[in-house]
Amino acid sequence: MSDHQSTYNPQSGFEKWLDRRLPIVRLAYDSFVDFPTPKNLNYWYTFGGILAFCLATQILTGVVLAMHYTPSIEGSFASVERIERDVPFGWLLRSIHANGASMFFLAVYIHMFRGLYYGSYKEPREVLWVLGCVIFLLMIATAFLGYMLPWGQMSFHGANVITGLFGAIPIVGEPIQTWLLGGPSIGNQTLQRFFSLHYLLPFIIAGVVILHIWALHVPGNGNPTGVDVKDVKKDTVPFHPYYTVKDGFAIVVFMILFSVVVFYFPAALGHTDNYIEANPLVTPAHIVPEWYMLPFYAILRAITFDIGPIDAKLLGVIAMFGAIALLFVLPWLDTSKVRSMRYRPTARYFFIGFVACGLMLGWCGAKDPDEALPYMKLSADQLVVEYTDVNGNPAQQFFDDYDLAKQALENQPASAAASLGVKKGDAIRFIHLAQFLTLYYFAYFLLIVPALGLLERPKDEPDSIHKSVLKGKSKSTAPEAVAAE
Ligand code: HEM
Repeated sequence: MSDHQSTYNPQSGFEKWLDRRLPIVRLAYDSFVDFPTPKNLNYWYTFGGILAFCLATQILTGVVLAMHYTPSIEGSFASVERIERDVPFGWLLRSIHANGASMFFLAVYIHMFRGLYYGSYKEPREVLWVLGCVIFLLMIATAFLGYMLPWGQMSFHGANVITGLFGAIPIVGEPIQTWLLGGPSIGNQTLQRFFSLHYLLPFIIAGVVILHIWALHVPGNGNPTGVDVKDVKKDTVPFHPYYTVKDGFAIVVFMILFSVVVFYFPAALGHTDNYIEANPLVTPAHIVPEWYMLPFYAILRAITFDIGPIDAKLLGVIAMFGAIALLFVLPWLDTSKVRSMRYRPTARYFFIGFVACGLMLGWCGAKDPDEALPYMKLSADQLVVEYTDVNGNPAQQFFDDYDLAKQALENQPASAAASLGVKKGDAIRFIHLAQFLTLYYFAYFLLIVPALGLLERPKDEPDSIHKSVLKGKSKSTAPEAVAAE
């Protein structure tokens, strides 16, 4: 908290000498030892510390991996194989780094959903939230750049799809794409610049994390009630040892889960196509990004229609970036005076819907958009023989049986130019689900959150809060009044 007085008391002569010249130990002490932290933080609040652990792990393992990695299209794939087989503990470093990216995203999504649920982004923590969104964007960019480095099939074709999106932007799109790739198509120069940026961005993330924590320490931590601490003595405890122990415990549990993935399922989260060296001439059947990008990929693909002069591809790109942009402006979209959804029963239902929406968008992103949803096939696929009839008009015959269809095809004269195809039956497909979910995603931020804030009647807070926070004020004080204080 900004008005928190420093209690650091330098002991040794050296500490006193340093403190007068560069009070860095004082800064660390005030931020991570004596910092007053609300008593009632639950385990969802340990994910910030878990994220700091993830970032440090990625940087440490990444720096060592880079010592053995060759950023060239001739050497990259082989150097990764060498790391896996010949470099001492290279297999471990790579498994930690590749799966570490997944664990990092798992933690960041939990951290963000925690923020959404408890209204952590609301006044006075808007800048803290926006800095978090910047970190999230940088994480996506870093993961995308890193995925290119092993130079596998998915690395190459995935990068092709994503950089190709820039080409959809009118006029400036193609020059931007060429500039990003360092040439007209993905090549050695692309790999080299991706490697350089992949090495750089985590340090930028670390810089933004410092700002994030600074912005956290000015208003101080929020807490699950959404009511800010009023009495620092009664309602807070020093960060050390209370939260160093709690965060430390959570990090150890997280490390156990992380180890299970690293040691027992090291390839479970990756894609088998990436064990094949990149070949520009062979495109994988389904190009899919890593799981943590799937919801945004589903939004990108959900737009299949043009609107006026804007074609579907560009609309998809706008929707995908728009979905992330909405997170940035959320503090100004939410009109509710009450922060925490603990006291917002209706908002809580829509929030659960939003979590389900995110998960199901991820499912849609992983699937072929034309595939029917389970149990949602309304009529069977049919074989269709297409031919030109005696009057020269196109005609069709439908069959359920292959032998009958084949016979009909053979019975047509050569002049009919008959061909056999498949007419897909009616079904509710993944693309339809993705379109519905995309609509819900945007409606959640643009309609539901703003409207609920104005319409919802929040629950009363329990007595315990009134006693400690409002020092004996009556329970009849509505939460709106508490939040407005
Ligand atoms: C490398 C990534 C990140 C790191 C290391 C990090 C670190 C932290 C830490 C240590 C805290 C305090 C403890 C806690 O509340 O968990 C915190 C709080 C917070 N973070 Fe992050 N964070 C990261 C990413 C993000 C992202 C992506 C967002 C949102 C888009 C975000 C939003 C917030 C908010 C709103 C709080 C305040 C919670 C409260 O006090 O009520 N952070 N972060």
